[in-house]
Amino acid sequence: MEKKNIDWANLGFGYIQTDWRYVANYKNGAWDAGALSADNMIVLNECAGVLQYAQTCFEGLKAYETEDGHIVTFRPDLNAKRLVDSAKRLEIPVFPEDRFLEAIDQVVLANEAFVPPYGSGATLYLRPYLFGSSAVIGVKPADEYQFRILTTPVGPYFKGGARPLTVRISDLDRAAPHGTGHIKAGLNYAMSLYNIVDAHNCGYDENIYLDSATRTKIEETGGANIIFITHDHKVVTPKSPTILPSVTRRSLMTVAQDYLGLEAEEREITLEEVPSFAECGLCGTAAVISPVGKIVDHGREICFPSGMNEMGPITKKLYDTLTGIQMGRIPAPEGWIRVIK
Ligand code: PLP
Ligand code: COI
Repeated sequence: MEKKNIDWANLGFGYIQTDWRYVANYKNGAWDAGALSADNMIVLNECAGVLQYAQTCFEGLKAYETEDGHIVTFRPDLNAKRLVDSAKRLEIPVFPEDRFLEAIDQVVLANEAFVPPYGSGATLYLRPYLFGSSAVIGVKPADEYQFRILTTPVGPYFKGGARPLTVRISDLDRAAPHGTGHIKAGLNYAMSLYNIVDAHNCGYDENIYLDSATRTKIEETGGANIIFITHDHKVVTPKSPTILPSVTRRSLMTVAQDYLGLEAEEREITLEEVPSFAECGLCGTAAVISPVGKIVDHGREICFPSGMNEMGPITKKLYDTLTGIQMGRIPAPEGWIRVIK
């Protein structure tokens, strides 16, 4: 398969139209057979549930070309499951997990020419999403829905690649107790846009959200979970019912314990203990592991000893092991890699 003529090494994290997307429609209480489509446009009723009341949720995962030339996805079963959880919370009909996995395989294979070559630093980002497509004007769920998977080749999420980031403690909240912080609802991102634009205007790469009940505990950023490394090399990550259960973070905790022999702990982390950590990183499908050099809390600068030039040593080991597993250089735990081709 001849690859598309794309400057893979210089890709940012943006939308590039690829040849095929997967589309299935829900009508009269059932999902249709679904099919690939060459059409990247959607025609919607002006009163569609997604447009009026943001009835939509999504997923994010990647397809990788491995060292030995296979095309694989990483733990897509966890994305299938999380989309089910998101859909249920938003009164969207569930898209079956087995069909999700088959649709991912199909759309990746159809867009094989867009899967960035091994070693290029780029990957094919997959964005499955569900939305209410029929008209609603009273506040209620739509009757009809669409499930789509679009694909786009991407490079690093943060400009500058692995350069340590500067992030700020946010004054605005992301998720309420008993709200929707634990699911991947479009509304969680809509309400973060004002804050991320403001963060960028103020010179920060991202916002760190605190728990909105007490504003004392670290939660996550707008698009990634957070890990910290202690001076004695323990990996710690916030435990909270209002953050997104990141596939990357869950995988990193296993990698830390089983591959690197490190202690890994999920627990409440207060803002006050942050200066005691040696390293910090943002983790997610898009972010992979992006090192944080500095956290700014209203004029107080918390600088990590790992510095602003390179990833800290433990973060780097985690990064190399995780990406090694994803790209087929390191044997994966049972069930983590789904070979498409
Ligand atoms: N937290 C938020 C708010 C996200 O948007 C994402 C991205 O998906 C993550 C965390 C990381 O999750 P994952 O590792 O499953 O991509
Ligand atoms: C992902 O990492 O897949 C996400 O959905 C995060 C988003 C901010 C790009």
